[in-house]
Amino acid sequence: GASPMQLRINGQVKNLTLEPRTTLLDALREYLDLTGTKKGCDHGQCGACTVHVDGQRINACLTLAVMNQGKEITTIEGLAKGDALHPMQEAFIKHDGFQCGYCTPGQIMSGVACVKEGHATTDGQTREWMSGNICRCGAYPNIVAAVREVAG
Ligand code: FES
Repeated sequence: GASPMQLRINGQVKNLTLEPRTTLLDALREYLDLTGTKKGCDHGQCGACTVHVDGQRINACLTLAVMNQGKEITTIEGLAKGDALHPMQEAFIKHDGFQCGYCTPGQIMSGVACVKEGHATTDGQTREWMSGNICRCGAYPNIVAAVREVAG
């Protein structure tokens, strides 16, 4: 049955009562109204659900909410600081790193992790690191350009 759990998301503690089998993705979208994180495949194949847990990127569809208690979860909603967009968000706008936008939150979360972990030193390395994030519109060159700009 449903049981209480506590998640720390974007710096806020959230108390929830969820079935143990609830994925982190469903917890975010269905119970916390954090719908910036998208559900594409629900099977770890598309990257639309990418979030950060303790600074590492993960597919939120592949982890249970209950397993993420006591960790720091960051979603796309937690990237901007007030009115100031995150530099990766600014770069995606500047480089037209999206068309329909559905994959964009996941792309941006992956891009931030890519730069932070030092995987954006070349276009090829960036493409490889970002290869788990599928874009059906084919905006890949612009996405790579955005990530590479933030990497500096
Ligand atoms: Fe999680 Fe596609 S929805 S990888």
